[in-house]
Amino acid sequence: MIPRNCSFPVHDWTTLSSYWHPVAFCSDLSDRPFSVTLLDEELVVYRSAGGIVVARDLCLHRGAPLSAGWIEADEIVCPYHGFRYGTNGRCTKIPAHPDAPIPAKLSLQTVLSEERYGLVWACLSREPRSPIPQFPQFTDPTFQHFHFEALDWNCSAGRSTEGFLDVSHFAWVHAGVLCSRDNPVIPEYSVYPSENGFGFEYASTYANPINSDPGDAEGLALWRRLYELTVPFAALLVTVYPRGGQLVIFNISAPTSAKRTRIYKLYARNFDQDEPLERMRALENRIYEEDRFVMEKQRPEELPIDLHEEVHIRADRASIMYRKALSGIGLGRTFTA
Ligand code: FES
Ligand SMILES: [Fe+2]
Repeated sequence: MIPRNCSFPVHDWTTLSSYWHPVAFCSDLSDRPFSVTLLDEELVVYRSAGGIVVARDLCLHRGAPLSAGWIEADEIVCPYHGFRYGTNGRCTKIPAHPDAPIPAKLSLQTVLSEERYGLVWACLSREPRSPIPQFPQFTDPTFQHFHFEALDWNCSAGRSTEGFLDVSHFAWVHAGVLCSRDNPVIPEYSVYPSENGFGFEYASTYANPINSDPGDAEGLALWRRLYELTVPFAALLVTVYPRGGQLVIFNISAPTSAKRTRIYKLYARNFDQDEPLERMRALENRIYEEDRFVMEKQRPEELPIDLHEEVHIRADRASIMYRKALSGIGLGRTFTA
């Protein structure tokens, strides 16, 4: 069912609702329900003995938000008239009429949910079009994994995901951190299709301060970035340093609405595992803040899927492929997330 005040064209919403999106970190879950918005749909999320519950944040009695209620004896209690809902979603008690039969229709409107990689994923459709995107390093024991807080940006998920795949902005947006303005030239790189998206590899000659490996005497070394994009909004980046260290960033943009996005960032590394995360957190915050500054200002907010709408250069191979991939799953010409 299309949500009220849906900010997407109906066809785009239907397409996006059939993919898995993250809605919370598992570590945020408790027996205190909270609300989260995905694709303009308000959801309630909580943990019960029977597992996690993700449901529409709506009591079918009089439309109160269940996220304002509480959990008691493993049941969620609506704050308005105290109706209770059990782990199977069915209403178990109407306090005003404890002996009356409970209408069958009175139940939670749960959506598909799953915990993976420390995230809660949800799919608003009963029939997901593809599996939850892959993050293979998560189960590799040689990798340490961690995450920083999610970010809420006033931009579309398409713009934010494309920004993560963009290779020619480093010298400009992240000058002095990921590249320098004296080093803006982008080498040739190629893009290859994969099962649910595409991948590409790109070589950089600018030392990355997140890594303790200094490269050569000038701090310059060839390090590789390998990208894997899973439609619509999951981007995995493996940075391979000269001495074999790998830093992995799994960047997933969850569309809150057509012009607002919550970005979840998961990390894995097979080096420097004793190094405290504070320095990296500070650098990452700076980098993402630099990105946000541009991405919230891009117009149109929607990602133009029609390739004639914006002008492309050779370095944009990845973003051209991205727009084609979104078009390939059926999103509209000017895609509003
Ligand atoms: S609105 Fe939820 S119990 Fe009445
Ligand atoms: Fe960036």
